[in-house]
Amino acid sequence: MSLFPNYIRQEVAFQKGEKATLWDTAGKTYLDFSSGIGVTNFGHNHPKITNALTKQAEELWHTSNLFTNPLQQEVADLLCEQSGLEAVFFCNSGAEANEAAIKLARKWAKEVKEVSNPEIICSEGSFHGRTLATLTATGQHKVKIGFDPLPKGFVHVPFQDLHAIKQVTNSQTAAVLLELVQGEGGIYPASKPFVQELAQWCQEKNILLMIDEIQTGIGRTGEKFAHQHYSIQPDVITLAKGLGNGFPVGAIVAKEDLKSILGPGTHGTTFGGNLLSMSVAKAVLYELNNPQLLLDVKAKGNYLMNRLKEELAQCSEVEEIRGIGLMVGIQLSKPVQPHIKQLLDQGLVTLPAGEKVLRLLPPLVITYDEIEEAVLRIKKAISK
Ligand SMILES: Cc1ncc(COP(=O)(O)O)c(C=O)c1O
Repeated sequence: MSLFPNYIRQEVAFQKGEKATLWDTAGKTYLDFSSGIGVTNFGHNHPKITNALTKQAEELWHTSNLFTNPLQQEVADLLCEQSGLEAVFFCNSGAEANEAAIKLARKWAKEVKEVSNPEIICSEGSFHGRTLATLTATGQHKVKIGFDPLPKGFVHVPFQDLHAIKQVTNSQTAAVLLELVQGEGGIYPASKPFVQELAQWCQEKNILLMIDEIQTGIGRTGEKFAHQHYSIQPDVITLAKGLGNGFPVGAIVAKEDLKSILGPGTHGTTFGGNLLSMSVAKAVLYELNNPQLLLDVKAKGNYLMNRLKEELAQCSEVEEIRGIGLMVGIQLSKPVQPHIKQLLDQGLVTLPAGEKVLRLLPPLVITYDEIEEAVLRIKKAISK
């Protein structure tokens, strides 16, 4: 075994995928309710997205950011159009996107607010990535063990506690970094009043509101980006996962007045926004720009939630079912891992979120029949 043992892996190896179906190396089929941890939002082997990538692969892969890249500009324009924001930087992953947002907030606070030790307010239970800065921003102790000394400048408050945010806000506060639905933390959607009052507070105090849309973005919740449910305009959103439908790409999308903060030489990456990832992101954003898709995600999400509530009503182990769109968590009273293994054996791929939450992130192209099938398999596994 020549790999670091840092992942706890199931023994199954997948070989082929089509929409929400996966085939393992033995030819067994599975219904995919994980989307590779919220990544393959448009399903496996989407014809237009696959075609965009293969066509680009035959032409030109990579030239570096030392040269003009019209395709990168085109994707940036699409992201701005769809998010209502104005400035884009491309990178390769979620952690890198949050890392860039953290650097942007610090430099902005120094230049604009003349702050010497900028602080970012984060939430307990949050997840923002595994680089040193993003694991420090993450509100979960387990990801930090053994990695200190950690960077300074992060404070944590309980999720959705505006009073606590107000209490820790001070002259050094640069930004609030927030997931609108805590994903890895257990599928906890933030309430509309909290988010709207927070946006107001950030505006009053001249603090950046940075929304981590890495798991919630690209249609997952039934809007293109989750913040669109809350009628707010963040200063920065961070994206990755679904933006590449499986091809590694990340981005920060920010307000116009932040553009000048990342001037020449301040930040960069070799691969970020290269032609391969941009060909995919462009195809993804074309697919996303479809009002019917978003209506369908909302309707399918409601259907999934209602059917789970009906079928699992008698399961004593189920404490709560919560979520938004096709981002759903089933809170159990016991550890979830044995159920995940059982479900996998039954041909349903699901995810944990924390120790006791069964997380469902089916592709947005899931059908009602597939939802029905999944609900019945979950009932069978959890009722055992
Ligand atoms: C909300 C959120 N932010 C950041 C990340 C980190 O993304 P990546 O694993 O691409 O670095 C994740 C990954 O699960 C996430 O869910």
